[in-house]
Amino acid sequence: MQEVGPRDGLQMESAFVPTADKIALIDALSDAGLAKIEATAFVSPQAIPALRDAEVVLREIRRVPGVVYTCLVPNLRGAERAIESRADELNLVMSASETHNIANLRMTREQSFAALSGVVALAQGARVPVNVSLSCAFGCPMEGEVPADTVLGWAARFVALGVRGITLCDTTGMAFPPQVAARVSVFRSRFAGTELTLHFHDTRGMALANTLAAIDAGADRFDASIGGLGGCPYAPGASGNACTEDTVHALQCMGFDTGCDLPALIAAAARLPALVGHDVPGQLVKAGPRDALHAPPPDFAQWRERALARA
Ligand code: COA
Ligand code: ZN
Repeated sequence: MQEVGPRDGLQMESAFVPTADKIALIDALSDAGLAKIEATAFVSPQAIPALRDAEVVLREIRRVPGVVYTCLVPNLRGAERAIESRADELNLVMSASETHNIANLRMTREQSFAALSGVVALAQGARVPVNVSLSCAFGCPMEGEVPADTVLGWAARFVALGVRGITLCDTTGMAFPPQVAARVSVFRSRFAGTELTLHFHDTRGMALANTLAAIDAGADRFDASIGGLGGCPYAPGASGNACTEDTVHALQCMGFDTGCDLPALIAAAARLPALVGHDVPGQLVKAGPRDALHAPPPDFAQWRERALARA
């Protein structure tokens, strides 16, 4: 399980979450057994003011051995900042959809690829591993379908550069299970030596179904966000990432070893509304785990007496 809440979640918050609170959140997540934490983004502070404290966050978090602290990087400037801040991994981003790439990054995909090739070379020179996140890998809200060949074609070009991993991002919750299964199994057979991460948003309530379909097709790495954080406050109906603690709970029920400490995740999620100033979508923090028992009603003993007397 890989946590993206501090980046994908907090980037969309309209209120600035104080740096010390971000650090405390990441420190709490570090102790919860996550394999990787996307701690922040080294993007333009004008573009994403919520993450303008990236350097301080990366410097002051407590680094737990074994946890990979990755950071989103859009360009060379971001890569230099991230390497300087001792990021364990650079997570580069471009979109599989031309329209979304221009809207989000102000470049064509070919321009992005050329620029990111330079970033990969810089990272390799500094011996920092690279992951590439392909946005809109299951559909684009402006273009519609994004064919599997397009997505896998961009993946192939980055794999050829020697990147460690590729993330297929369902940026706006358009993925559905058979599509996910097909893309995962082709990826697995074509790029056996490359880490594959699935990044689902629960915009249409399909994140868990997609996760299960991906597991059946051979995937074993999932991005998720504590409390289900995320979703643009300016886009009604937009919703966050797959929720970390809800996903972990479901997978534990099914017998998977996620490596995660569920009570620690729930405790971290419970502190979020105070941090971001609004309710968060995660369900487990409200309902509790399925084995959390509730006391019977106060007059239960009396009802039982009566029922038994009638038997
Ligand atoms: N870190 C810090 N500052 C950066 C930067 C980075 N990685 N990249 C660009 N900038 C600054 C430049 O220094 C420049 O500042 P100035 O106006 O004070 O001189 C300004 O941003 C514009 O730079 P430019 O190279 O023209 O970039 P742009 O305006 O075309 O922006 C992006 C392109 C991609 C860098 C910017 O839009 C961005 O960071 N977007 C974030 C996208 C994102 O995170 N989306 C959500 C996650 S997918
Ligand atoms: Zn996302």
